[in-house]
Amino acid sequence: MSARLEAVLGDITGETVDAIVNAANPQLAAGAGVCGAIFAAAGHELVEACAALGGAPTGEALATPGFDLPARWIVHAVGPVWFGGDQGEPELLASAYRRSLDVAVEVGATSVAFPAISTGIYGYPLEPATRIAVATCRTAPPEIDLVRFVCFDAETHGAYERELTAT
Ligand code: APR
Repeated sequence: MSARLEAVLGDITGETVDAIVNAANPQLAAGAGVCGAIFAAAGHELVEACAALGGAPTGEALATPGFDLPARWIVHAVGPVWFGGDQGEPELLASAYRRSLDVAVEVGATSVAFPAISTGIYGYPLEPATRIAVATCRTAPPEIDLVRFVCFDAETHGAYERELTAT
């Protein structure tokens, strides 16, 4: 059976799913945006755990424990910076979602919450990014029961609702 996909408006740091996904940078360092919020909520052990992983290339994902978060795991996914769309951005964004799901399965997670990877500081236009997110998660591995898209603003939530109901 395929995973249930849903979109909610909220803050991903409060999610009680098995794994939340972080929109990370290749250094896996604390940044701003959702990354900064996750580092602040997870506590100082996350800094050490990420440093020990030593970084990840764009399109990859790596897991750490959730530490002080309600979620048991954090999957750190590195989405692409938007350079106009002809630098492999769609494939790299799809890979970030796909690898996140694979890594979630590897740690035993069955429910996963995603932020809108790359659509903030990294500048990926919202509508095409949403299409890629939904299409990739529709073919989640069978171990995944639930994919929740946690949207931080109404515009993002609207884009996900449209994409989830349109296709
Ligand atoms: N919960 C859910 N979504 C959030 C939260 C939150 N607490 N905070 C921000 N967001 C949303 C943003 O509004 C945006 O829709 O997450 C989406 C992704 O935005 P960014 O966090 O800017 O991520 P991204 O565009 O992938 O840029 C990644 O930013 O923070 C740095 O270290 C990070 O360098 C990396 C870059």
